[in-house]
Amino acid sequence: MPADATSRTEQLGAHLKERLQGQVKIREPLAPLTSLNLGGPAELLVEATEVGDVRIVLDTVRRHNLPLHILGDGTNVLVPDEGVTGIVLRLAGVFDQIEFRENKCIAGAGVSVSRAIAETAKAGLAGLEVLYGVPGSIGGAVYMNAGTRYGWTSGILAEVEMIEEDEVRVLPADDLRLSYRYSRLQDQPGIHIITRATFVLKPEPPEDIKARIAAMSQYRRETQPLGNRSCGCMFKNPEGDSAGRLIDVSGLKGMSVGGASVSDQHANFFINRGDAKASDFYKLARLVQRKIREQTGVELEMEVQLIGDWSDDG
Ligand code: EPU
Repeated sequence: MPADATSRTEQLGAHLKERLQGQVKIREPLAPLTSLNLGGPAELLVEATEVGDVRIVLDTVRRHNLPLHILGDGTNVLVPDEGVTGIVLRLAGVFDQIEFRENKCIAGAGVSVSRAIAETAKAGLAGLEVLYGVPGSIGGAVYMNAGTRYGWTSGILAEVEMIEEDEVRVLPADDLRLSYRYSRLQDQPGIHIITRATFVLKPEPPEDIKARIAAMSQYRRETQPLGNRSCGCMFKNPEGDSAGRLIDVSGLKGMSVGGASVSDQHANFFINRGDAKASDFYKLARLVQRKIREQTGVELEMEVQLIGDWSDDG
């Protein structure tokens, strides 16, 4: 890194450390924060623990024209081996809390989907468990309108709180124009930070909800490579089909680039055989995309979020 870039990083880091309640780390490795255990460092890894922290981060990003990446649970992202310039933001503190009001669950954007499901089931509120097995955080689930064969985030989401510029805004779910793996927030990434989501759920005995979760868990264990490091499903499902089925019938199971392979168990999961680089995953995804395009005419779209600069790879 050139000397002036190094001093910019140090200065920004010092500026943020002075002002934020949450932790600020300079050139912090991101790999341990991802399910693939891959990728280089963040120029600045920043933890926001309250609304004031998020405002300061947004203001710093605007003033210095910095890229901003939001890292949820690190389960659905690919971080370049060279690392990421700008700020990588994680939400903790008040954004990692869950509250209940009658049949509503208000979950911070930093709460993991799995924890939110466990707590709502325990509270005897049904609905969120349709997301069982979705890797990631509540903020990510809203941003992506995450879903499974049992239902999508949009089916239970009532309201979203987010910070845009300096303002905290609460929007009805309809305002996000949610459709399959889409919210309008994806059109302007890094401008809005989702801070909380309100879900409307239905009272049901916890044992009944837990029994459904157990059945979903068994289906996942039977069909997905849960014992391997992966980033969940690599591609969105094309309309009316399953990306996994398409990759499978195209004969691409087991295909590898470096240490990344298409899983033999579920072809929409790419697994780290232990010695992979992030660029292996990127190249394998592009290769599978090209082969599926050539063999079937279908254009697979990435579901995994690519953060940072990937323009020279693949
Ligand atoms: N299939 C194959 N070969 C494969 C994989 C799947 O033939 O290698 C077939 C299956 O037999 C089934 C069909 O394709 O008939 C659909 O497969 P599956 O039930 O596994 O569902 P999916 O559409 O591939 C979706 C979500 C998963 C979620 C599962 C279970 C997407 C992109 N994926 O997968 O979500 O766990 O349903 O609900 O929508 C994720 O998004 O990261 C994720 C894990």
